[in-house]
Amino acid sequence: FPAAIAVELFHDFTLIHDDIMDEDELRRGQPTIHVKWGEDTAILVGDALIGLAFQQLIHSPPQHLGALSRIFSDTLVKVCEGQALDKSFEQQEQVSLEEYLDMIHKKTAWLIQSACEMGAIVGNGKGEQVEALQRFGYFLGMGFQIQDDLLDVIADTSQLGKKVGSDLLMNKKTYLTLCYQDYWEQHPEIQKKFPSTPSHFQSVEEFKQVLDRFQITPKVQALIDHYFQNALQNLGQVSRLEEKNPLYRLTQFLARREY
Ligand code: IPE
Ligand code: MG
Ligand code: MG
Ligand code: MG
Repeated sequence: FPAAIAVELFHDFTLIHDDIMDEDELRRGQPTIHVKWGEDTAILVGDALIGLAFQQLIHSPPQHLGALSRIFSDTLVKVCEGQALDKSFEQQEQVSLEEYLDMIHKKTAWLIQSACEMGAIVGNGKGEQVEALQRFGYFLGMGFQIQDDLLDVIADTSQLGKKVGSDLLMNKKTYLTLCYQDYWEQHPEIQKKFPSTPSHFQSVEEFKQVLDRFQITPKVQALIDHYFQNALQNLGQVSRLEEKNPLYRLTQFLARREY
């Protein structure tokens, strides 16, 4: 539990600061902290949550404390690197698929892979079990973020609890925008009709229609499925893939989520 609580508090910190960086006003259907209580409070709450997270973590069994502290603090640095890349890509015209995947690994998947690794360690898993669960978390996290990027365009705000089209507004680079730019470059006939930059579309709705028309949505969905399948394959190495397995249920739930 101490490690689990630490991960949750850490996650809350990342979202509070992320909403400042992404200028988002809605999270889980509620006003974001910086909107409700101001930016100073949101920065301080986020910082304090890191401290509170470590306060929890140190209650872990002493024999695991060294490994857990290392993983946890490495994760903090990685998430900051990932968020820095995410922000700098907003100003960058071209981002490669490799750069995008590296960015989402750091900003999102790293925490999930670390959470799984830490859980496996605290559960006294063998080396190969810890590694398999870490890989499970990696693939789950990658699938989760690509899907998050897709939902930013295809979900509706009331169900998502976040503002749809936020990424488009911020000129974020996502697998969707990379596929669109690729398509645009390879099809001169559409270049007069549609902007080369997704954020120049009139509306999210228009961008969404174009993604469907050029078959980009199914391509993105295929990559998401690929990551979730890999997650399950790694989970299968340490446990049975059945309904009573909570990590199996979690994966199925996430793969089907619409919010
Ligand atoms: C957030 O990614 C990653 C971290 C908080 C580190 P996003 O910016 O895509 O997350 P949402 O869409 O605001 O939830
Ligand atoms: Mg965000
Ligand atoms: Mg963000
Ligand atoms: Mg997002």
